[in-house]
Order: sequence, then structure tokens, then C-alpha cells
Amino acid sequence: MFKKTFKYYKSRCPPPDLNTMIHVNDSNYEVVRRSPFSLSKEIEKQLIELGLLPTCEWNIFELKLHPGLIVIQNPFTKPGSHLWMQRCLSEYPGPPNKSNLHNHNLLLPHENWWHICKTDPARKAVLTSKQRWVTLGYHHDWDSKLYSEENKTHFPEELAQLAYCIGKAVAGWEVIAQAAILNFYRLDSTLSGHTDHSEPNNTAPLISISFGQSAVFLIGGKTIDDPTSALLINSGDVIIMSGESRLSYHGVPRIISVDWEVDDGDEYRSFLKEARINLNMRQVLFQGQTSL
Ligand code: OGA
Ligand code: MN
Repeated sequence: MFKKTFKYYKSRCPPPDLNTMIHVNDSNYEVVRRSPFSLSKEIEKQLIELGLLPTCEWNIFELKLHPGLIVIQNPFTKPGSHLWMQRCLSEYPGPPNKSNLHNHNLLLPHENWWHICKTDPARKAVLTSKQRWVTLGYHHDWDSKLYSEENKTHFPEELAQLAYCIGKAVAGWEVIAQAAILNFYRLDSTLSGHTDHSEPNNTAPLISISFGQSAVFLIGGKTIDDPTSALLINSGDVIIMSGESRLSYHGVPRIISVDWEVDDGDEYRSFLKEARINLNMRQVLFQGQTSL
């Protein structure tokens, strides 16, 4: 099911019928609405400071066919989403974080991608088109798929706070994010089907936020033969893979270009007119564990 669905949504000729996707807000037989968890004043305040709306304004959905797959429709305020776009584009791609550009010596270890794009026009085209991923905290090892203490750098506090507060607000979870992957998509990019099982603690929910152009997100089950659903994901939407869906197959067969306003001089929104970024946060260690 997964492969066939992936091929259907990836196809350019003929293009897929995008109305066959689940649009969480106007689908009531594929999704159930969830109420936010009741929060302490302190967490509710932190969420506001992190650039999110009060939880009473959140729209939270869970897929009936994929229990544990939760979507929060863009819970960010406009300045809040701008702040996270800025962090993802101009802060997180620099040291101590690692990226494919550093790996391929297109950037020196101390160089920040966004800063070099701004100041070195000769390198900009290559650096813009070749940016694929950035890793934070426990760095995901793309070959061994193993995390290690030797390959770990400081995990940004505000990011750990964001994951913690979102987890609390959805179901009272206490997620301690220790690793993150920031993915860069162009309009023709895809992410093939996979499961995220590198984390020793693979029961803690995985929390994922996206900005920029929209995407088709496929969610299947434990095997590639299980039923697969396609979800439309827009800028600011949060996806949580928890419970039964934490280890499910998923992927992104298509980026969908949408109407996208760019205010004068807004370099971040200007970049995201032709790109999508996805930041997914993972707890690596078990509760109370301090190292691998
Ligand atoms: C990942 C992932 C999904 C997305 O990086 O593991 O599944 O929405 N990303 O980009
Ligand atoms: Mn994944």
C-alpha cells in the first residue's frame, strides 16, 4: 500500500488528485478532534512566549485509521512562526550543528549557511540548492543510524522547551527532546518511506513542525503493506507520531506550491516561497537516563 500510494502522489504525469488527501479541518470521518490537555498557568505562559496561540484556540486532530498520529493545525502566531522560520534558516544551520554541506566540505565547520549565502554571492547558488539537512543535539548518523555520546553537541533550550510544551499540551506527555533533524525541501524534493527507529527510546512521541510550502505527508503502519493515508500539511502544522504510530512508515512524496505572501524585505519568507523546511524533534534517552 505504501509504495503504490507514494508513487500515486509523486507522479508528475498524470498529477494526483489532491482532493483525495485528508484535509484535517474538513474531514470528520477520517479524523477525531481532540481537546488540549489541561495545563498549568506556567506551561500556558511558556507556550505564548514560544510564539504559540493559547491552547484553547488549537485545532488538534487524530487519524482514526492511524491511532497516535496527531496533527495540530498551525498553532503558531504570525510573529511566532516568523521567529521559528528565522531560527531554522539563519541560526540552526550554523555551528555547533552539522549539515550535509559541512560533510561535503561545501561549508567549513565554523561557517553558517545563511550568513555565507548573504555575504558570498559566488557560493550562494550552490549552497542554496544543495542544502538538505541539519542535525542538532545527538547527531543522526545517516549510515550507521546510531546515536553516540561522541557525536553530540548542545541542544538548543528553546527547542527542547517547544517539544516539551507541545507534548504537555496535547496529552500531558513529558517529552525531553535531545536530537533534531532539520530537512530542506525544494519544490521537486521528496522523502521516501521510512520508519524512525534509531532512538533507543522509541516510545516517546516524535514532534515535527514544518514551514513554507505545503506537502503531502503519507502515514502507513508497521509494515509497507499496511493501509496508507495521505495528509495535507501546511506551513506551521505540527505532526506528532506517538503510540501505535510512533514506528509507522511515513514519507513525503510531494511538495505543493501554494499562494505565499512575502512582505517587503522578508528574506525568510522569500526563501520559503520555493522551499519547505521540516524540523523533527526526538527524545533519545529513557526518562531519567543521562547518557547513552
Ligand atoms: C524525517 C521525516 C517528515 C517531513 O525527517 O524523518 O519524516 O514532514 N520528515 O518532512
Ligand atoms: Mn521520519
